Amino acid sequence: MSQKARNIDAETPISEIDVSDPRLYADDTWGPLFARLRREAPVHYCYKSAYGPYWSVTRYDDIMAVELDHAAFSSSSEHGGIQIADPPPGAQYVNFIRMDPPRHTAQRKTVAPIATPTHIAKLEGLIRERTAKVLDGLPRNETFDWVDKVSIELTTMMLATLFDFPWEDRRLLPYWSDVAVANLDAPDSPVKTQEERVAELTRMGQYFAKLFEERARKPPRVDLISMMVHSEAMRTQPQHEFIGNLTLLIVGGNDTTRNTMTGGLLALHENPDEWAKLRANPGLVPSLVHETIRYQTPVIHMRRTATRDTELGGHEIHKGDKVVMWYVSGNRDESSIPEPNRFLVDRARPRSHLSYGAGVHRCVGERLADLQLRVLWEEILRRDMHIEVVGRPVRVYSNFLRGFRSMPVRIRA
Ligand code: HEM
Repeated sequence: MSQKARNIDAETPISEIDVSDPRLYADDTWGPLFARLRREAPVHYCYKSAYGPYWSVTRYDDIMAVELDHAAFSSSSEHGGIQIADPPPGAQYVNFIRMDPPRHTAQRKTVAPIATPTHIAKLEGLIRERTAKVLDGLPRNETFDWVDKVSIELTTMMLATLFDFPWEDRRLLPYWSDVAVANLDAPDSPVKTQEERVAELTRMGQYFAKLFEERARKPPRVDLISMMVHSEAMRTQPQHEFIGNLTLLIVGGNDTTRNTMTGGLLALHENPDEWAKLRANPGLVPSLVHETIRYQTPVIHMRRTATRDTELGGHEIHKGDKVVMWYVSGNRDESSIPEPNRFLVDRARPRSHLSYGAGVHRCVGERLADLQLRVLWEEILRRDMHIEVVGRPVRVYSNFLRGFRSMPVRIRA
């Protein structure tokens, strides 16, 4: 399958196009395939793939239509959840991103206060202090890995704060996140079998269970564990749901922001005129943040399952069909976003993107991510740091999360 996807070219019949191959994202070669689908078959049926047959939704407006109709297009794990890959039998961790209303609504409400404007405003000072410390501690005139030293470090610190997690153990968080989302076939996967994955995540559950007990004995506070343990909706969750929701919050708060921190630097490096605009006008940082989130599109797709026969883009979708919204494609849709393939720090409507999804599942943590990214770029500009990408970034082998394993950089002193 992978080999076939790599060999797809302009001559390939449209019916044979399969955009699910993780190699397309590891090699970053997905662009022309999606451009063709948007042009020739914006709602496209792939008959055969490693994940079974599926519909691809590739235009901005069609993706929005699916997002906003959660009754017809379900996220529920009962139907297969939110990834193109069906969950392996017997290993289903339930969490609220894989639920439909009303259960989804109650659980989402429990954790949403972590990202209210008031709480976020309180966190800004702490985030700025930590960001400054990390940036000041980076080597000068020496090659180092931006992913490890900046992106992972900053997002891990943030997550540890949100959970009030033991500080010295905080690197367990990105490790568990990697375990949870790893493509088992990937050469650098931290776990090689589903059994290993389940064993690691069970260990994670045990670690958190101790924190749960401890927080239950204390009065409620604004940290994610305390919020869960003191809530009606989540206090009594069964073990598999507890692990599932922890994983959701860890992956949600970790990979996405992390990869935007790396993708933003790469985009600026590849567009020196945009760097120059930004240096000349640091007031563009909020716009830069939205543009990097669009341009990077850290979540490649979300999947839904049709709960009834319905119509989309002139096609009949049947009950039970797998429908995949390709955010990477919607964010490059020339009929909705002017010059979508350009990275522009002063784009006219930078918030018009699909990276956070839409509708009832729209990202809970978006304000937090925006804040972390804004502070990072403000502090980089304040220090007038000149950061060069000095080697090829290594991208993640996944059709779900668009990310980086490593990216060598050098800061000119
Ligand atoms: C640039 C950073 C981020 C991106 C691009 C991103 C993207 C997304 C996307 C695409 C969804 C699904 C939306 C849909 O189905 O319509 C989502 C949901 C979610 N995100 Fe984020 N996210 C980011 C940061 C965060 C952070 C920092 C947190 C937590 C601290 C977080 C927590 C969640 C949660 C809990 C959900 C599930 C919401 C629900 O099902 O109701 N995300 N995110």
